[in-house]
Amino acid sequence: MSKCYSSVIVLAAVLVLAVPAIGSAQNAAAPPAYRPGLGDLMTMTVQPRHIKLAVAGRERNWSYAAYELHQLEEAFDRVARNWPTWRSVPIAEMMTSLTKEPMAALAEAIKSADASRFGTAFGRLTETCNTCHQGANSGMIVIRVPDNSPFSDQDFRPVQR
Ligand code: HEC
Repeated sequence: MSKCYSSVIVLAAVLVLAVPAIGSAQNAAAPPAYRPGLGDLMTMTVQPRHIKLAVAGRERNWSYAAYELHQLEEAFDRVARNWPTWRSVPIAEMMTSLTKEPMAALAEAIKSADASRFGTAFGRLTETCNTCHQGANSGMIVIRVPDNSPFSDQDFRPVQR
């Protein structure tokens, strides 16, 4: 075999081995973007923050409640941004029109460290969860004020200084 032929064979072998490797390296570098479903976002972000906020209020841990209220607000914003409409339901519009008022009432209650106002506002917020679920043909998803914290690794009592 001439030198020329053998180098062609070596080149071909290198290509056969390398091309699939390049292809899989590209796949590894750019997996399809993960777009969480609306129900995923609700379960991962809205639901735990709703629970933690309730526990914060019950513990009268106002600085943490303020923090968690902000987290919940951002969770709502991300839902609205990622799912402005869902099965032709205007989620973004409903999110603002339903949650704005009870979220503002919660902020006021937290600022004035008023546990009873907090409880009332939290009940109203929880009603809006269900109002939207019903309006979005998802009325079988029923949210209530939680009894206790499922987050046993987190201490919700105010930090004593
Ligand atoms: C603007 C509308 C809207 C608001 C407000 C809203 N949700 Fe939802 N939520 C939905 C829709 C629509 C679904 C169903 C999404 C799906 O099936 O992909 C859903 C699904 C859920 C789920 C998933 C159910 C399951 O068991 O898998 C949970 C949990 C949830 N919501 C909790 C809440 C809580 C808690 C609140 C209030 C703090 C809330 N949601 C407020 C629209 C809303």
